[in-house]
Amino acid sequence: MSALAGKIALVTGASRGIGQAIARRLAGDGAVVAAHYHAAEHDARLVVDQITAAGGTAFALQADLSVPGGAAALAAKFTTELSRRYGKSAFDILVNNAGVSRRATIEEITEDDLELLLQTNLKSPFFLIKALLPHLRDAGRIINISSMGTRAAYPAMAGYAPTKAGLEALSRLLAVHLGGRLITVNSVMPGATATDMNTNARDPIASREVAKSIALGRVGQPVDIAKVVAFLASDEGGWVTGQQIDASGGQRL
Ligand SMILES: NC(=O)c1ccc[n+]([C@@H]2O[C@H](COP(=O)([O-])OP(=O)(O)OC[C@H]3O[C@@H](n4cnc5c(N)ncnc54)[C@H](OP(=O)(O)O)[C@@H]3O)[C@@H](O)[C@H]2O)c1
Repeated sequence: MSALAGKIALVTGASRGIGQAIARRLAGDGAVVAAHYHAAEHDARLVVDQITAAGGTAFALQADLSVPGGAAALAAKFTTELSRRYGKSAFDILVNNAGVSRRATIEEITEDDLELLLQTNLKSPFFLIKALLPHLRDAGRIINISSMGTRAAYPAMAGYAPTKAGLEALSRLLAVHLGGRLITVNSVMPGATATDMNTNARDPIASREVAKSIALGRVGQPVDIAKVVAFLASDEGGWVTGQQIDASGGQRL
């Protein structure tokens, strides 16, 4: 039997990059997947079509998580769609993956940049969890995609890294808060992963340079992160909670 048969998951930022790989993997493991996107509607529809063609079940949901109220709007769309399809709004797995980055030191970063990073990377996941907690089944999973940039110091992540550190702190306290319901809450910390967000990791020459700081000798691919998320989402991962799981191939150890 598939590891996630009978489970329902919401993956934010499932249109591209790491989120797309997570959506495909969870669907491949048997979960019904709500694939959230913001602007890349075509990519999100392609993900849904490919999951469906492979025998899985998925649907796309649009929401802008860079604005106040975006998380509440997504939660409402998700629970409404679940009620329409299944007669109830209960679900099992929330993956807060959508995020934005800005390459800027403290001297360079503007207040608007910081506001965007905080809203998208921390406030929206916060309010999405808050809105969806009443619908998350006992023994459910919350998996927040952070960054190894909270462990190693990258001065050009002056705005980005603190938003991810906040998400990790939230994950840890929620693990205690929700432990009585057997809900696990963890952070996964990718290192340099080849996506639109990290063009260096995509570039054949620049990525070789980055790989010199990685114990396993290469940059990450989205599927590397999806495997870790799939483990945490599965029954096998049920004894892991409140953790920051580095998925960087050993970058900057
Ligand atoms: N790539 C790396 O090296 C790396 C390293 C550490 C951590 N991470 C983290 O991993 C996660 C995924 O990153 P990625 O590399 O896969 O990035 P990506 O390829 O740029 O994809 C970002 C995803 O977030 C969504 N998103 C962006 N702005 C949004 C908004 N305003 N509202 C709602 N959704 C929005 C995008 O949706 P649309 O496509 O629809 O616009 C897209 O699905 C992020 O949280 C990132 O911080 C990445």
